[in-house]
Amino acid sequence: MKIHFSNENVTKDKLDLNSEYGRALSIIGELRQNTEDYTGWVNWPSELPQDWMDSMQRTAEDIRGKCDRLIVIGIGGSYLGTAAVEEALGGSRPGCPELVYAGNNMSGYYHAGLRDIVEQHDVCVCVVSKSGGTMESRLAFSIVKDMMYEKYGKEETAARIVAITDPHKGILREEADREGYVTFEIPSTIGGRYSAFTPGIMFPLAVAGIDICEFVRGAKDMSLNNGFWKDEGIYYALTRHALNKAGKAIEVFEYYDPSMRLIGEWCKQLFGESEGKEGKGIFPASLTLSTDLHSMGQFLQEGSQIFFETVLNVVSRDKDVIVPESAGPELAGRSLNDINAMAVKGVIAAHRKADVPVTQIDIDEMNEYSLGQLLYFFMLTAAVTGKLMGIDPFNQPGVEDYKQEIRNLLGQ
Ligand code: PA5
Repeated sequence: MKIHFSNENVTKDKLDLNSEYGRALSIIGELRQNTEDYTGWVNWPSELPQDWMDSMQRTAEDIRGKCDRLIVIGIGGSYLGTAAVEEALGGSRPGCPELVYAGNNMSGYYHAGLRDIVEQHDVCVCVVSKSGGTMESRLAFSIVKDMMYEKYGKEETAARIVAITDPHKGILREEADREGYVTFEIPSTIGGRYSAFTPGIMFPLAVAGIDICEFVRGAKDMSLNNGFWKDEGIYYALTRHALNKAGKAIEVFEYYDPSMRLIGEWCKQLFGESEGKEGKGIFPASLTLSTDLHSMGQFLQEGSQIFFETVLNVVSRDKDVIVPESAGPELAGRSLNDINAMAVKGVIAAHRKADVPVTQIDIDEMNEYSLGQLLYFFMLTAAVTGKLMGIDPFNQPGVEDYKQEIRNLLGQ
């Protein structure tokens, strides 16, 4: 992974990044000490017990033998990592169950559609909720269980459920212990949006045949790469913070492949929930290009300068097409991926002229290892920028208010 701060109008000197360099470095050091609440994720890629990995792989094998659809129930940090990695890698591996997501919304229309899946396929369920009490996942779990009881009966349904939750507390933990579901833990010291390398995200990926060992290896290498953090990685956090102080309120994550859309959603949750508090924070947005150039391109070029861009650029992809003759002499015979790469360069050049600050993150290839690196990189960046802003990046006090309003309306 390589980072380019590609806008010469926003040089390190101009933003005075080095004045906060020492502070950012000490923040990384303190995070690694693991003394603060909810920082269990910082060294987790190196600490993840091998027997957890083995046990997830064994259970995944067992689940693969029982179903062709795995219904993955969860929301927020208990959903986005799985869906983002799966989508970026092109879905389940051949011969492995397809992942179907539930509980990430409360649409009756959406969840009614699950009945066809349960009736027409062999299904298993993986329910993920750290607290065990989240309304969306609780509702979806009870709806899906009910559909499965009709088909399999209660005992067989229980044998098709894997529950991933807190090791000790919550109603999902109680139910899992009572009903004898297979369970995995989300460590108490790791919060939802920092849980990418816990079973909550990795177990469903393992069922889909995705190589979770490589995913963790990427995260571990990123977490231990001191040279990268000191010389390069840290400047992304410093740049974000400095741009924010200079009045940029929005960070737009951009990628040139629709398979990265959910990576954008994952980034939005990570940064939005980590930083958006006490009247502070950078509002995270995401765009799929070149698609959204045809809706937002005008704004990016000439609109109010309240934003900066972070381009997630995949340097090489394992699939491509060659443009046929009928496309005309300038384009015929060229690789579509090469044309897309020209679009990345051209758009950055145009936005540079408009004085838009752009950071380009080059991801060599799209695979489990590079995704592990990328997700860990963003997690540490969110924590460092949050601390530079002076907020606690690991809590989310503001989400309780809307939940209480909904509970009031439902008479709970
Ligand atoms: O990051 C977070 O803490 C949240 O987005 C949670 O992941 C989300 O609310 C789901 O919570 P739970 O896993 O407890 O169901």
